[in-house]
Amino acid sequence: MQVVTSDPGLSKAEAYRDLNRQLAALFSGERNGLANCANMCALLYQMLPSLNWVGFYFLQGSELVLGPFQGKVACVRIALGRGVCGTAAERRETLVVPDVQEFPGHIACDAASRSEIVVPLIEQERLCGVLDLDSPELARFDAEDRVGLNAAAALLLEASDLGKLCD
Ligand code: SME
Repeated sequence: MQVVTSDPGLSKAEAYRDLNRQLAALFSGERNGLANCANMCALLYQMLPSLNWVGFYFLQGSELVLGPFQGKVACVRIALGRGVCGTAAERRETLVVPDVQEFPGHIACDAASRSEIVVPLIEQERLCGVLDLDSPELARFDAEDRVGLNAAAALLLEASDLGKLCD
């Protein structure tokens, strides 16, 4: 497997285009959802700067349950509507949180986390889970991260059978 790194000379938009080209190549010919999610969070953790956690939660009934991730051990179950993940899932919208201490009900899995972005995974109207990224820097995520990570999530959904991971 090729080891990939991001070119520090690229703009953020170019870096996401590069990242998403590499994701598409990783997913090529492979529809296993667990495998693709595992490789995706490894690639994001490796290529995106200033992260301390990247991972997936999958919807099981009324809870999000921990999936593949990179970073410190994390809480396993999050109720819909709770924390940043549960709120993004319930609202079915990407949440960018510049300062997690200002977010009511934020769930602190790693005390180092200062900002966070959560992208819901929605396949044909069906909520399957969320992609969650944490940073030890305040305001690490912006509109370009929102666009780039939504494109990454769309590639994952298109390429993979995620249905077996959520109910
Ligand atoms: N901070 C998240 C919980 C998950 S961890 O960040 C891995 C939240 O408030 O939902």
